[in-house]
Amino acid sequence: MKLSHYGNRYSGQSGIVTLMDDLGSALRDNPDMLMMGGGSPARIPEVEKLYQQALQQIASDAALSQSLLGRYQGPKGDLAVRQLLAQQLAEDHGWPLTADHIALTNGGQSAFAIIANMLAGDSDSGHRTIHFPLVPEYIGYADACIENGSFSASQPAIHLLPDGLFKYTLDPDLVIAANAAALCVSRPTNPSGNVLSDAELQWLDAAACKQGIPLIIDAAYGLPFPALHYTNETNPYWTDNVILLLSLSKVGLPGVRSGFMIAAPEFVEAFSRANTILNLAVGNLGPALASILLPGRQLQRLASEVLQPWYKAKAATALQLLRTALQGVPCHIHQPQGAFFLWLWLPGLPVSTLQLYEELKRAGLLVIPGDSSFFGLSSPWQHSHECIRLSYAVSDQCLQQGSAILGQVLRRIFA
Ligand SMILES: Cc1ncc(COP(=O)(O)O)c(C=O)c1O
Repeated sequence: MKLSHYGNRYSGQSGIVTLMDDLGSALRDNPDMLMMGGGSPARIPEVEKLYQQALQQIASDAALSQSLLGRYQGPKGDLAVRQLLAQQLAEDHGWPLTADHIALTNGGQSAFAIIANMLAGDSDSGHRTIHFPLVPEYIGYADACIENGSFSASQPAIHLLPDGLFKYTLDPDLVIAANAAALCVSRPTNPSGNVLSDAELQWLDAAACKQGIPLIIDAAYGLPFPALHYTNETNPYWTDNVILLLSLSKVGLPGVRSGFMIAAPEFVEAFSRANTILNLAVGNLGPALASILLPGRQLQRLASEVLQPWYKAKAATALQLLRTALQGVPCHIHQPQGAFFLWLWLPGLPVSTLQLYEELKRAGLLVIPGDSSFFGLSSPWQHSHECIRLSYAVSDQCLQQGSAILGQVLRRIFA
């Protein structure tokens, strides 16, 4: 079958499709595979129970069930949910929001793809890019744009820290491409577990304003939910130059495919028109659950009182187990400041990260090779071939066994 450029673009090889495929097939081929590769949130019984109860509440009420199953939402999504979220964000963070600043989305992935294609590519002012001021970034962005060359990126500064840790920050000499259509960061960052400081965001926002472009902040792991920030020094950030993406996935609802976009009303209007053409309407389950979980800030409390401490404790356990298992291996671990990944930098790794990935898979451990997270750079960078990502949204037993396998395989490779 002959495909269009669009068809070829979206049906070709891409990091995110390989990742999702591999997660499925690895588990089918080896049901005992230690799954430290994917981005699924952890199973936390208390949290699952709350969602089950919310579903039961909807299912046992005829009017709620009908509105969940039997109607399309308007282009921006459920008005009452948008009004309530706007009011809560205004009260909690002082952001001057109304319902017109918020659109429901079918999750952060599809929202990003729509936004990126609305902004980047050929335009009346020439070819423009989404600029990532700091990579590594989320692999799911890499193939989202229809036009080739829609991304540009800058290398970060690397700071070596005590105890085998390191941290990325914005390069102090950062130059934003003149043809940038927007800046974009995930915060907390997938894959590194980095959290950009408030000052870094202010700097980026000011630089974006100066160029007359928006700053996209993808807070899929961030505040106010699931609130996976592990330092008190970082706060949520929004101005009317920011396009903020929130998601219900990492609170434990990735199957619901729902999220929120918060931006200036003109952009919300433009986005919701594009979303209507592409999706007709957003799904109803996310807003239905939100209308049960947002009142009284149940969702925000769940995030700060259950999810955040749970993942923070896991990060500490994972770090300790890995440090013990990797003794003697040349390895720096990115300071785990948020999200639920450990990002390992293996300087001088004698094989490609793909070969390492295959060896680990044969040994029963699934991780993510880091190379595909360095998209948009204009020159080669050895560091981009020396990193892997591990998820710690798993059981302690899995962490223990996975760390042991990683230690054995790396020691053999570095020997
Ligand atoms: C940074 C980031 N943004 C967006 C997404 C996609 O989220 P959603 O499930 O809301 O589409 C992910 C998923 O892993 C992510 O890590």
